[in-house]
Amino acid sequence: MVSRNLLHSGVRLMRRRVRDLVLHSAQGPHPFVIDNKRRDGSRVAFYERVKRSARYNGVVVKALIAYYTGTGGTGMVARELGRQLEGLRWQIRVERIKSEATMMVDGYDPIILLFPLHAENAPQGVYDWIDGLPLGEDRRVIVICTSGMGEMPGNRGGRWHAIRRLEGKGYDLWYEDSVLMPANYLASAPASVNRRLLAMMPRQVARIVAGLKTGRRRRVRPGLIDRLVSAAGESFKKGEAAFGKGLSASAVCAGCGWCAGNCPAANITMEGGRPRFGDACQFCLGCLYGCPEKAISSNNPKGLLAGGYDLQALLPRADGDGAAGDGDGERPSDDRPQPPKGLLWSGLRRYLRSFE
Ligand SMILES: Cc1cc2nc3c(=O)[nH]c(=O)nc-3n(C[C@H](O)[C@H](O)[C@H](O)COP(=O)(O)O)c2cc1C
Ligand code: SF4
Ligand code: SF4
Repeated sequence: MVSRNLLHSGVRLMRRRVRDLVLHSAQGPHPFVIDNKRRDGSRVAFYERVKRSARYNGVVVKALIAYYTGTGGTGMVARELGRQLEGLRWQIRVERIKSEATMMVDGYDPIILLFPLHAENAPQGVYDWIDGLPLGEDRRVIVICTSGMGEMPGNRGGRWHAIRRLEGKGYDLWYEDSVLMPANYLASAPASVNRRLLAMMPRQVARIVAGLKTGRRRRVRPGLIDRLVSAAGESFKKGEAAFGKGLSASAVCAGCGWCAGNCPAANITMEGGRPRFGDACQFCLGCLYGCPEKAISSNNPKGLLAGGYDLQALLPRADGDGAAGDGDGERPSDDRPQPPKGLLWSGLRRYLRSFE
């Protein structure tokens, strides 16, 4: 009898120790404390909590970072996020979303989805990817978008449709956020501002990682205007096929095949050493800006940046000097660049201020 009581109190003590160790380790090396409530408000059972916390406290966090990119910016953010999460001893796999590729998602929790905003929404390739996912069964997802203009009206609703699709498949939104990158469509900020955005991208990512470390959920509820603008933006997708059909390669094409290999929509095939554009274009602009020979042009150049778009040229160089610029004639400078004026850039101004 005495030994049974002793055994019971020993087990109770151990249970408390494990709970304290795992659930209250916010100051420890893996401070991922998981809330103990489900989405419907019901409480998660003790053992389930320990199991979840063990996973998120760095014991076995295996996260998949799935990213969509056209011109490379979101890929940069995805790799930086992976690097910083690996610093927390998460096991990370980073993979690009491409139409023809299948992606193994089993065994990964959370799944971290990154995409650029296209007309206040996720690109079609992201929707197709979500539709192809297995059922979520409450698996956690983190949704991060990149954008050229930040969290301004309309853009704030930019993750909404993708999140609703994910939730429709049974995924549990844990965290959402955005990273501001140089805009590749419609209008570009001055090169000095774009350089600054790129230079501070790791800090933007660090802010997200710090948010994840709190273990608290982050959900941005878009307002009515945001939802209306975002819903209207979905009609942009109707013009994408026509845009793709209007792409062509000039005589300077070297037949290298880079455009075909890089297209996220598998919309370019090489025929007789020349690219052929199909009708599945997703308007990512990757081929147009990225062709090494600058051979690709569009019969509808409205909105394309006249000076092109080259993120590599904006990155700080190893010798400490700034990059050569992106064609607006600016000299690299250490001075704090002046953000552009006007409503279009209000999100960018607010964002830059928040990092000062
Ligand atoms: C077709 C198209 C539509 C875009 N629409 C928006 C938009 O609605 N809001 C915004 O802030 N940026 C918009 N952008 C800018 C991109 O979201 C931004 O430059 C992003 O960082 C590009 O990512 P990537 O380099 O990974 O393709 C758009 C870009 C394209 C190509
Ligand atoms: S990337 Fe440019 S040069 Fe290479 S095949 Fe495509 S169009 Fe031609
Ligand atoms: S054809 Fe060009 S613009 Fe269209 S999805 Fe492919 S890479 Fe992007």
